[in-house]
Amino acid sequence: MTISYWNGRYLPLDQVQVSPLDRGFLFADGLYEVTAAYNGRLFEAEAHVARLQRGLAALRIETGMSDGDWLAILERLTAESGVDGDLTVYLQVTRGAAAARAHGFPAGVTPTIFGMVSPLKRPPDSWRAQGVAALTMPDIRWGRCDLKTIALLGSVLAQQAATDAGVTDAIQIRDGFVTEGAATNVFVVKDGVIATPVADHRILVGITRQVIQRLATTAGLPFVERDVRAIELATADEVWIASTTKEITPVTTIDGRLVGTGKPGPVWSRVAALFAESQGR
Ligand code: PDD
Repeated sequence: MTISYWNGRYLPLDQVQVSPLDRGFLFADGLYEVTAAYNGRLFEAEAHVARLQRGLAALRIETGMSDGDWLAILERLTAESGVDGDLTVYLQVTRGAAAARAHGFPAGVTPTIFGMVSPLKRPPDSWRAQGVAALTMPDIRWGRCDLKTIALLGSVLAQQAATDAGVTDAIQIRDGFVTEGAATNVFVVKDGVIATPVADHRILVGITRQVIQRLATTAGLPFVERDVRAIELATADEVWIASTTKEITPVTTIDGRLVGTGKPGPVWSRVAALFAESQGR
């Protein structure tokens, strides 16, 4: 059984027992992070911890944990994972288990902190060679998508719609604008300019997105954050999705129509190579 972290202790995953009164279970009152480690080396761990700390502050969940405390958990779970090769560390923090169910914040409750490791299945080579298909669908999620909360039903339904349709991702549309994939950020390329939706309450600012922005900017590739209209998906030269687990994946078919030439594009190819370098490959 793989190792996990549970409220200050490291123990086998099957020994973790969660209270049915935990507010994560009853209210989805909590946050999570998924961080990759490639060959035992965590990728962008500080950025994941910073996002977690920002989210905790926004939700007023007080853990007393410093950035260094979070990093130490990530490091130890990675080191003792027993996983050969690449992995992800999942961290979840909830407001804790109160004595009774009531919506408002309970007094004197200690947050629940959980961490586990899983083998990371990297995106298959065929995704890089041919790209993937996606559909579009309405974004039915709430108004604070910038917080990485464990209330993921919108994402669950979006991913299932994609799976049912035999495609890889569901690009969500709100008021005529692209927001995100089911659990990915979206990028469109037109005439060499990379555009991605603005970092506001409508999207989660992905750590992969931040890395792409940094790499593109450093390489002198035009990169803009702006509202992206859904109709631009039909005329874009390239569309990509990106996340910790999907890395940067070209989307070559949307709603059954080819994107650009229908093949992964040159801008993707350039940024994906820079990304692989930053992963230490
Ligand atoms: N999800 N947008 C949403 C809604 C997401 O759930 C995710 C990641 C991202 C990309 O974020 P990042 O680059 O930091 O992984 C964007 C994770 C991987 C998950 O739910 O498993």
